[in-house]
Amino acid sequence: MKVKESVKYYKSIVEDSKNTWKRPMEVISKQDAHVDTLHHKGLLNMCANNYLGLAGSAAMADAAKKGIDRWGFGLSAGRSLCGTQSVHRELERRLSNFLHMEDTLLYTSCFDANGGIFAALLDSQDAVISDELNHASIIDGIRLCKAQRYIYKNNNMSDLRKRLEEAKDALVKLIVTDGVFSMEGTIASLVEICDLAEEYGALVMVDDSHATGFVGAHGRGTHEHCGVEGRVDIISGTLGKALGGASGGFISASKYIVTVLRQRSRPYVFSNSLMPCICQANVKVIDILEESTGLRDKLMDNTQYYREEIKKLGFEVPDGAHPIVPIILGDESVAAEFSQRMIDKGVFVMSISYPVVAKGRARLRTQISAAHSKEDLDFVISCFAKVKEEMGL
Ligand SMILES: Cc1ncc(COP(=O)(O)O)c(C=O)c1O
Repeated sequence: MKVKESVKYYKSIVEDSKNTWKRPMEVISKQDAHVDTLHHKGLLNMCANNYLGLAGSAAMADAAKKGIDRWGFGLSAGRSLCGTQSVHRELERRLSNFLHMEDTLLYTSCFDANGGIFAALLDSQDAVISDELNHASIIDGIRLCKAQRYIYKNNNMSDLRKRLEEAKDALVKLIVTDGVFSMEGTIASLVEICDLAEEYGALVMVDDSHATGFVGAHGRGTHEHCGVEGRVDIISGTLGKALGGASGGFISASKYIVTVLRQRSRPYVFSNSLMPCICQANVKVIDILEESTGLRDKLMDNTQYYREEIKKLGFEVPDGAHPIVPIILGDESVAAEFSQRMIDKGVFVMSISYPVVAKGRARLRTQISAAHSKEDLDFVISCFAKVKEEMGL
């Protein structure tokens, strides 16, 4: 194709999909329970991953400002050169202690962490066994490695066993799962996964991006929730959701795995160091989490209340106790219209449809935050009831 034809090709893609591609609403306020957008004031926000309500908080802003004063704006260097400040190491230590893991290394996102782990740990004689609903970053990371790949049906233990059986002659075997499936709000069966891993001599990796900070009695994550601390070998996670919501990711594991990653994981070695004020603010997050479980307790109370009330309205909601609460509507256009009507009533909730979820399983993914008040949740529930009636569902 000539250059002009290539440009035309992309133009035609954009024109073909004009009516189906979503455009983000431009937010003109801080991230919080309520946000202002260009066209709507004070929308009640039900679609942020701001589980603990820290993202727009004064505590985070203050800690980050102190971080800038102490450590400067940036490092202009990767971690392996002169881009490791004491605050990076401090956060790595604090995360390790909090998660009860041996060591941790930081990335600039969890996408990078997942993108950079498999090729660093696995080669052609090894096997990776991955849940079909795992996050895109895990799928991409696996594509970059030479290991044999096996996909098992979502959280289906008999299928996982079959895949492990097929992979049994591989040298290193690594089972990888999301701790929480982010479109469903369901938690992986980690006890059974760890049992199977032991039986087949496999390592277990859990992506706890939707769990670290609030799932489990102390908010350590799904390994705490499922009672498998010490049995999960690798945890990846994000700083961009519950833990303050800025950006950054990490991998926690045994010191030998982390040491290999520091040498071989390409997004760690060949990318710039995480902004130091983010590290400083995330040390503060760990302080908050270790001082009290208040925020995660409020989040879980909110979640329980909301799940009970929304179910009373007769919506299809996957069972669970996680603050991701998807309202399954099925039809794509119904979900899109439902979302628009909710926004018009003052509730920021977006529809999610194919290819992110299966065809005919479109949904509104609502997400609860510790920043929501009971009145906020009552308002959302009343809007769901009204729109359901308006649309005759
Ligand atoms: C399960 C899961 N893993 C990884 C990521 C990527 O995290 P980050 O935003 O830090 O790149 C996300 C974010 O959407 C996620 O939901």
